[in-house]
Amino acid sequence: MNTDPQTLTMAPPRLSDGGGELFGWGRRMRAERPVARDADGIWHVLRYADVQRVVSDHASFSSDPTAVLPGTARFRGSMLWMDPPEHQKVRRVISRIFTPKAVAELEPRVRRTAADLLDVAAGRTELDLVRDLALPLPITVIAEILGIPVSDRARFETWAARMVDALVLDPVTDPDAMKQVGAGSGEVNVYLLEHCRRRRDEPAGDLLSRLVTADVDGHRLTDREAMNFGRVLLEAALITTTMMITNTVECLDRHPGLAAEVRADRTLIPAVFDETLRYRPPILMIPRYTRGAVEIGGVTVPPRSLVKAWLAVANRDERQFADPDAFDPRRRPNPHIAFGKGVHYCLGAQLARLEGEIALNLLLDRYADIGITPGAALEYHPRNFFGVKRLPLTVTPV
Ligand code: HEM
Repeated sequence: MNTDPQTLTMAPPRLSDGGGELFGWGRRMRAERPVARDADGIWHVLRYADVQRVVSDHASFSSDPTAVLPGTARFRGSMLWMDPPEHQKVRRVISRIFTPKAVAELEPRVRRTAADLLDVAAGRTELDLVRDLALPLPITVIAEILGIPVSDRARFETWAARMVDALVLDPVTDPDAMKQVGAGSGEVNVYLLEHCRRRRDEPAGDLLSRLVTADVDGHRLTDREAMNFGRVLLEAALITTTMMITNTVECLDRHPGLAAEVRADRTLIPAVFDETLRYRPPILMIPRYTRGAVEIGGVTVPPRSLVKAWLAVANRDERQFADPDAFDPRRRPNPHIAFGKGVHYCLGAQLARLEGEIALNLLLDRYADIGITPGAALEYHPRNFFGVKRLPLTVTPV
């Protein structure tokens, strides 16, 4: 038996029970081994202050896995995997299309898409919130941002759904599914690359056209950088937004008094989303890689180590949040770390909030009563992301 106090004897639990075990594990780890190495040599960081440091101190904790994880070099190119100064150049160009003004311009389209999706479900008293609204909404918004022509939308939606599957599949238990996803992923790359080239030659009014033609301080995105950005959106913006919406509806279902207050006073909605992001963040942890030896939480992490910064566990740190296991949208301030921190802070945070607020407002407008279908067994994605695969709702139209 390994008796090193920093070594974990238990791997982080899966989420099959909806997080109970994970948060119990997190509570124990924060108290007893806040920086710990597991049997595979992976380091886990669990307290709020340390997690903040790992995700934002890019001089010590790199986002680029290629020096540490063999076989990852072929995936190079995503801005999520870049460090400054390379990252800065790409981010400066891309952040142009996520300005508050650009996001506000998307609002009517988001509103219309959400309404169209609920129109399709009109008259029904049973919904699957994932399939009926929370997944197709962000897929359509991303298609809009990328300017995917209507004739290609069906193909694009299939790829997007497959990429969402890929993020949550387990290569050990689902090798065949992984192969299929791998093949599909090649198709998306080819399509996005061609699409970026077309937009560069013939810009349209969409954000991708603006992106591929923008010149910021002499830096223009190459076709490959633009394609990689398209992929980041598919990977970073879909399942996260879906889960933010379904987790919020789930939290309200468990707090009926609060749900009634929100229905009566819609100005509470933004704070409800923030509290859900703290309480059940869609991204459980983010990885970083040490360059040299780094001291953190009184422990020295060796060079070239994979470090997992647990956003979900940090968001429940009693050193930062009073009564952290209570779902309380009235907590002020609420400095949760669900969107990360530092140079990689989520570029889509404002858009995700917009989509969520529109979706929840519309659900409350259309249905006098919304509840998780009694007796429905909720199946959670097992790892990495926090949310259900389907959310069966029983609804009463107004
Ligand atoms: C609730 C929904 C979302 C959550 C919880 C979320 C969370 C995150 C987090 C934690 C990061 C930082 C990753 C890191 O530091 O390594 C990130 C980055 C990013 N997110 Fe989001 N995200 C969400 C929605 C979106 C949406 C809707 C978009 C775009 C439409 C988006 C685009 C991005 C991009 C482009 C980055 C990379 C930024 C960079 O590397 O500089 N995200 N997101």
